[in-house]
Amino acid sequence: MRTIILLLAFPLLAMAQPSKQEQFKISLQTVIQNSTMADVFPGMVVASPSKENPNYYYDWVRDTALTMRSLVDYYELTGDAKIKKLILTWVDAEAFRQNLPTFSGLGEPKYNIDGSGFEGPWGRPQNDGPALRALTMIKFARLLLTQGQEDYVLKKLYHGILPADSVIKKDLEYTAYNWQAASFDLWEEEKGMHFYTLLSQHTALQEGAKLARELRDDGAAVFYEKEARAIGAMLKKDFLNDKIGILVTKGKEASLWYKNSGLDVAPLLALNHNSPYQKLFSYKDTSVKKYISSLIEQSSEIYSINKRYPDLGVAIGRYQEDRYDGYRTESIGNPWFLSTLALGEYYCLLRDKTKNKRLDDVIEKQFKRVLFHSDRKGHMSEQFNRESGNMQGAHDLTWSHNAFMTAMMRCKLL
Ligand code: NOJ
Ligand code: NOJ
Repeated sequence: MRTIILLLAFPLLAMAQPSKQEQFKISLQTVIQNSTMADVFPGMVVASPSKENPNYYYDWVRDTALTMRSLVDYYELTGDAKIKKLILTWVDAEAFRQNLPTFSGLGEPKYNIDGSGFEGPWGRPQNDGPALRALTMIKFARLLLTQGQEDYVLKKLYHGILPADSVIKKDLEYTAYNWQAASFDLWEEEKGMHFYTLLSQHTALQEGAKLARELRDDGAAVFYEKEARAIGAMLKKDFLNDKIGILVTKGKEASLWYKNSGLDVAPLLALNHNSPYQKLFSYKDTSVKKYISSLIEQSSEIYSINKRYPDLGVAIGRYQEDRYDGYRTESIGNPWFLSTLALGEYYCLLRDKTKNKRLDDVIEKQFKRVLFHSDRKGHMSEQFNRESGNMQGAHDLTWSHNAFMTAMMRCKLL
């Protein structure tokens, strides 16, 4: 009764959005829930609890690798034993599915909740998956090594034996031998060579080489380093562009006829996801700066909510020609939570490099934008409508929530 009176007297109280810190807790809980669904193979993560319109009740290797990365970072910060257990269960699930016969081997993008490979038509292979998974596991392996758990690391995560029988080694071998082949992009739409995929592969091999050396697998280390350098050379040669800074895709073998500007949020995600490891591109590079300003300029232009709420940070989508609205493809795309958060994360990393205090305000606005379009209970779907600002697409998308967690941790806001 008292609360009702209070709410009537102070309607604003009832409207209160979660603070950043409250949202972090909600996002962590949501990530844990989506990673421990009772009817799902233990250790696998659903992309969203949504089972229809759209059905995201599957495990995508990419989404899961990024989710677990945010949990590894969180575990590093807190030492939380429950989280460690979750990560260990995930390692076993990955070891299991790496051995399944699937249409495209380790490049298989999406799995059924019983752990088996999805056998419907899909854009496959998607070769960012093994690289992302390897980098998450390398981070985890390093933490375990500092805890003196070399036995576990050698048994499950990395061992030099060939044919590979440890999770990281399998992914690195796959990546080292397959990076030159075209694969589908992270949006699962175009087949070609992608900045996002290549930078992730470069970083996984580079960091994998370090781990290999540490675990006395020197021959492999030399090989992975050589491949990492070759990927780096390709990135520098083919993806820089005078007009927009960085191009998303080259050498298309399957493409969307309407996607042609070359400007996409994927390179921004690549820079964030591979920070601080990759040294090919710096946040201070002219090409990176040009790319980021093109992205901001274009997003401010095409999404009317950016004009409607100019005091909030910039809402960012996937790319300007996007026709996927979260339910169907013959439509029109919107800003996404994870893209909008990526810009905030970028500003935080830039602030750390440049010590530019003025960025504090910009960062705060970027978080405000995200909290403004999520709801009072801290739900975050995939997209928010470019005109109304209302959420749409898969509800409680795991990737939206882990992107929130990562941005908070990168911005040192916990
Ligand atoms: C679902 C994919 O995951 C999404 O990225 C894509 O835009 C649509 N299908 C249309 O292909
Ligand atoms: C569509 C996105 O385009 C893709 O990147 C993602 O893996 C799936 N949805 C699942 O969230």
